[in-house]
Amino acid sequence: MIICSCKVISDHDVESALVEILSEPDALIPTPGIVFRHLQKKMKCCGCAPLAVETIYAKMTVLMERGEICPQKGAEVRGKLLRLVPRGTAQRVASDQHNVEPLTRVG
Ligand code: FES
Repeated sequence: MIICSCKVISDHDVESALVEILSEPDALIPTPGIVFRHLQKKMKCCGCAPLAVETIYAKMTVLMERGEICPQKGAEVRGKLLRLVPRGTAQRVASDQHNVEPLTRVG
């Protein structure tokens, strides 16, 4: 699935980037900007930013379930990603593809 049509970034690209980013000893929180930078891309219109956050969140769940990233680190990252979701907005996660719980902001 294409996440960013401007830079032609897929969910598989995001997943690969997450594994690489989070394997670093001092891994940064993989915000969309960090993921795009890792892929040597720069956002153009930023229209994909909400979907990028949702995808990163969903992929974190998948990677934790597969044991490809530390559950503690995954939980920390997912908590920080929730702060990127606009207040009061329930976000759709491609749960039909990732079989994970919806990304919703509380509070
Ligand atoms: S859709 Fe991603 S920068 Fe435009």
